[in-house]
Amino acid sequence: MADFVGAIDQGTTSTRFMIFDRAGHEIGRHQLEHRQILPGAGLVEHDADEIWENTLKTIGVALADTGLGPADLAAIGITNQRESALIWDRRTGRPCHHVIVWQDTRTAAAIPALDAELLRDRTGLPPATYFSATKIRWMLDNVPGLRDRAERGEVLFGTLDSWLIWNLTGGRHLTDVTNASRTQLMNLHTLDWDDELLEVFGIPRAMLPAIRPSAEIYGTAEAVLPGVPIAAAIGDQQAALFGQTCFAPGEAKCTYGTGNFVLLNTGTAPVRSTHGLLTTVAYQFGDGAPVYALEGSVAATGSAVQWLRDQLGVIESAGASEDLARTVDDSEGVCFVPAFSGLFAPYWRPDARAAIVGLARYHTAAHITRAALEAICYQTRDVMAAMARDSGSSLDCLKVDGGVTANALCMQLQADILGVPVSRPAVAETTALGAAYAAGLAVGFWRSPDELRANWREDRRWEPSWDQARRDDGTARWRAAIDRTLDWVSV
Ligand code: G3P
Repeated sequence: MADFVGAIDQGTTSTRFMIFDRAGHEIGRHQLEHRQILPGAGLVEHDADEIWENTLKTIGVALADTGLGPADLAAIGITNQRESALIWDRRTGRPCHHVIVWQDTRTAAAIPALDAELLRDRTGLPPATYFSATKIRWMLDNVPGLRDRAERGEVLFGTLDSWLIWNLTGGRHLTDVTNASRTQLMNLHTLDWDDELLEVFGIPRAMLPAIRPSAEIYGTAEAVLPGVPIAAAIGDQQAALFGQTCFAPGEAKCTYGTGNFVLLNTGTAPVRSTHGLLTTVAYQFGDGAPVYALEGSVAATGSAVQWLRDQLGVIESAGASEDLARTVDDSEGVCFVPAFSGLFAPYWRPDARAAIVGLARYHTAAHITRAALEAICYQTRDVMAAMARDSGSSLDCLKVDGGVTANALCMQLQADILGVPVSRPAVAETTALGAAYAAGLAVGFWRSPDELRANWREDRRWEPSWDQARRDDGTARWRAAIDRTLDWVSV
């Protein structure tokens, strides 16, 4: 049998291909960023062709760099940015519009009219611009002729997993249950598209992919890896939960990417949130029962650091944020709420706008940068507090992963603000690892989740150093800043 498993990680800012061995060690990778197309305030788009070309290139370069070929890969898994919506032509494979990205808020005006109770009941999700349904409807309503073509079955919808599977296999139209659970069109209990919701959003069933388990063989990746099975597809946050080996109810992780996403495994029954979290599918293996999760999704965290780099130009790289923030001991009263896509969990306010408050003439870019790092941590605190209320228990340690975990100052602040230790695993790329694990289990490369658990090792742990009074002060100031971003809405 081949000695390695590959994973395509199609994220919000980049696409990477990673190769892992049986011990879960990284053997090789290549990564390419794609353009963030920002046609106006609140609009975020991607070019699906660019993403597909980058996928092909990253696979080619990663294999060339490692000297491996298709025969060395037992399988590949796919993990992807979720919710982002694409429609393409069934015959030509050409996209009908750019991808409308999960962060895009163009459908905000349509949200208040949605039936919150119905959506929560059927999909586990509140009305929000975040999910695919209103984005699909926007394209059907605004691209000339698209609705007629959709009704005639000439165009297809997919999240990015579907787009890659379609291209890799030469025309299979599938999605996995975790991605489908983020469209706001799938019934969380039947795991099928919900006819009443299709009616509500005006979306023809003919354009939707078949919903499959997260791990099974969907076909082979003929376009680039002849003969290699595509054996998993799983949304990126669910993949990270898997890569962190959170297989038991009560286990949770936080991934720091463009946004922050805390997922808590709740077992085989969906748990309804009463504190602003999402109920979502964590994974489904073959014909096994689906496993569900509670999720706290925060829209802008790493993207706040990118904003300091790209829009304000106060740092040269994301990594430089740590050095600059360390030049001051404290943000000294500055609070930065990066509500660039409104506020997600637990607030669900698409109309909120970002704010930097508490500025004095004295403050510098260092204070604002430190406040951006604190915002990453306070937003995690808010969703962890909601999770504790929903589940009735608190975590005694938070497993973390993703790009921002390289920032040791931010991780120390996270432990301080939460008041619990923060633990980073040896493989911080748990999203790609989780997709590889799912694919490897599907083809028998790994035999059981226990074998994967044995691969998990802690790399570094941060212990809280603040006393409770300091934690309470900081949280109160943060809440006041959140209120300002909501006040602005009514001005
Ligand atoms: O729900 C959005 C999420 O899947 C995006 O993750 O890591 O690409 O920011 P990331």
